[in-house]
Amino acid sequence: MKKFSVVIAGGGSTFTPGIVLMLLDNLDKFPLRTLKFYDNDKDRQEKIAGACEIIVKERAPEIEFVATVDPEEAFTDVDFVMAHIRVGKYAMRALDEKIPLKYGVVGQETCGPGGMAYGMRSIGGVFEIIDYMEKYSPDAWMLNYSNPAAIVAEACRKLRPNSKVLNICDMPVSIERRMAETLGLASRKELVVRYYGLNHFGWWTDIRDKAGNDLMPKIKEHVVKNGYVVTSGDRQHTEATWNDTFTKARDVFALDPNTLPNTYLQYYLFPDYIVGHSNKEYTRANEVMDGREKFVFGECEKIVVNQSTEGSALHVDMHASYIVDLARAIAYNTHERMLLIVENNGAIENFDPTGMVEIPCIVGSNGPEPLSIGKIPQFQKGLMEQQVSVEKLVVEAWEEGSYQKLWQAMTLSKTVPSASVAKSILDDLIEANKDFWPTLKKEQQELE
Ligand code: NAD
Ligand code: G6P
Ligand code: MN
Repeated sequence: MKKFSVVIAGGGSTFTPGIVLMLLDNLDKFPLRTLKFYDNDKDRQEKIAGACEIIVKERAPEIEFVATVDPEEAFTDVDFVMAHIRVGKYAMRALDEKIPLKYGVVGQETCGPGGMAYGMRSIGGVFEIIDYMEKYSPDAWMLNYSNPAAIVAEACRKLRPNSKVLNICDMPVSIERRMAETLGLASRKELVVRYYGLNHFGWWTDIRDKAGNDLMPKIKEHVVKNGYVVTSGDRQHTEATWNDTFTKARDVFALDPNTLPNTYLQYYLFPDYIVGHSNKEYTRANEVMDGREKFVFGECEKIVVNQSTEGSALHVDMHASYIVDLARAIAYNTHERMLLIVENNGAIENFDPTGMVEIPCIVGSNGPEPLSIGKIPQFQKGLMEQQVSVEKLVVEAWEEGSYQKLWQAMTLSKTVPSASVAKSILDDLIEANKDFWPTLKKEQQELE
């Protein structure tokens, strides 16, 4: 069996140790010869890499382990780039969340004005990684889960059309895991799903077992009472705020009981409720810094001090095994059916062919082959047209350095009540992001 060389871009991410443990758990399915970490923050990466080097040495000493901030060393001789960078880190995420909230608007990592601000930072960072990959390992594939995936994917479609980048999200598989648990099934892999939408903006239309039995009625029975709340759940989305999100799926479901919704729709369909239940001073970024970040960095420090993983509480990110499934699909031409973010190109018949949509694809060595969805109903179509336009306008704003287009994007978002509120938020975000965004030019003289 051929052994692969992988670089994790964003080596200092809180998700890196869980993914390393997941890769080590899957060596029989996806063997590694080299595992490299790349990050542009040496100190942050060193803390995670110090521990991961020990983990790899204990579990699979034959794998060469490298952690570097030198792009040439990182991206030379790799088969896959697994990218999860966060340009601006949690400090900027906190501002993405808090600035809109100040104006009574949803403050969220990937949705609304905060997601657009993050997009304006992410595009350049992700392009940098793509450029390194293409320079040093032109045959490699990038599996990208850096957020906001919808905007990053649209930027790749438009500005890096020939790059081998696959954009993927873990929310559908996390929810499917919960659905499987509800049904008493051992694995989400027993579900065959039909799903369509944009990233963080989609619906399941059909869920069956391998024998073809319709599982939607039983899942709906659970969702109508409990949303996607289950007793054990996943180990990633554990905090009280995530529990609220999974509960709220019940109300989102009520709007269209023919489908099952992605949790992220709550931000667009119940923005007043979300704002009312947000703490303007302490948002999800604070919760993550006090929770996951402290935990992961603390555990890594312990491993380094002890020079051993004995007693370590770090756990494998089981649900992230979809990343191995994707790498395997490319490497071994498995034709696995997976949800990916791809150019619509007619798959949803009555939707913009150039929109980046999240739909089932058959994935082989030559990339994803999207499945046909057909026509979608007016409600979903209307929502998606508005949202895909927001995402396209953000990418145009980044490309052209256009203030107007970003203002239009924010005005068009279903989370924002008016152009004047959009403008106030935008002006604050420009100030907060001056080290990250391209300079935005105003196209018109402002009216006095
Ligand atoms: P984090 O801040 O802990 O880690 C991100 C790392 O990226 C940091 O170490 C940072 O220094 C590094 N980085 C930033 N800019 C960089 C650049 N230009 N080049 C190289 N490295 C750079 O963040 P996290 O919470 O662990 O999340 C990491 C990313 O994964 C985020 O984008 C998050 O949104 C994403 N994520 C996506 C999904 C999904 O469903 N697609 C799921 C979970 C996390
Ligand atoms: C889900 C989404 C990701 C997002 C993450 C945020 O998994 O699919 O796209 O980044 O949630 O989680 P956090 O714990 O950082 O708020
Ligand atoms: Mn996601």
